Amino acid sequence: MPGLLLGDLAPDFEADTTHGRVRFHEFLGGSWGILFSHPRDFTPVCTTELGRAAKLAPEFSKRNVKMIALSIDTVSEHLAWCKDINAYNGDPPTETLPFPIIADAKRELAVQLGMLDPDERDKEGMPLTARVVFVFGPDKKLKLSILYPATTGRNFDEILRVVDSLQLTAKNKVATPVDWKRGDRVMVVPSMPDDEAKKMFPDGVFTKELPSGKKYLRYTPQP
Ligand code: BEZ
Repeated sequence: MPGLLLGDLAPDFEADTTHGRVRFHEFLGGSWGILFSHPRDFTPVCTTELGRAAKLAPEFSKRNVKMIALSIDTVSEHLAWCKDINAYNGDPPTETLPFPIIADAKRELAVQLGMLDPDERDKEGMPLTARVVFVFGPDKKLKLSILYPATTGRNFDEILRVVDSLQLTAKNKVATPVDWKRGDRVMVVPSMPDDEAKKMFPDGVFTKELPSGKKYLRYTPQP
């Protein structure tokens, strides 16, 4: 069964991209990585997504996250499309984006990574790529996977938010609650006993009283 599950090692594929030939593990180096796929070049939703991703590139870079996109067209088509994406952003219409776009014209990677959307097909009846988001940690293992159909554009602020959570929870024994943003209080993980939590979080642990009497809703300031 093609595709990637949480904890899987990223495949070390080689691909042509708008920034030249890329070997994926070498590209990632010791950084975090985000690989996001697109149904097709010169399509409206994808153009808005790549425009937003380009605007947010400095934020991903600050977090040591390398970005790479994938679309099932050729490098020359990608480069021509980059001009439109930059123009959409109100920038000079150059072929340059702050991250490479993989040319997967034969859909080989899309198949290997489980990215095809069976409901969206091109004029020849071939399935298009869905909107996959894979986030890899510095160990090159999959830490997060989100899959949107071709007809629903992603929210790149949300992707940045989940990167913040992934990076925080990779370093600290905490979990982030609903709608958490950087700086908000976090939750103590259920597996941590109270006495250990008190030692680990000197800024304090607040336990919310609940009808069950169970003391599992434990907050602490963001470490
Ligand atoms: C788009 O990017 O606009 C798009 C691509 C495929 C299907 C639907 C929308």
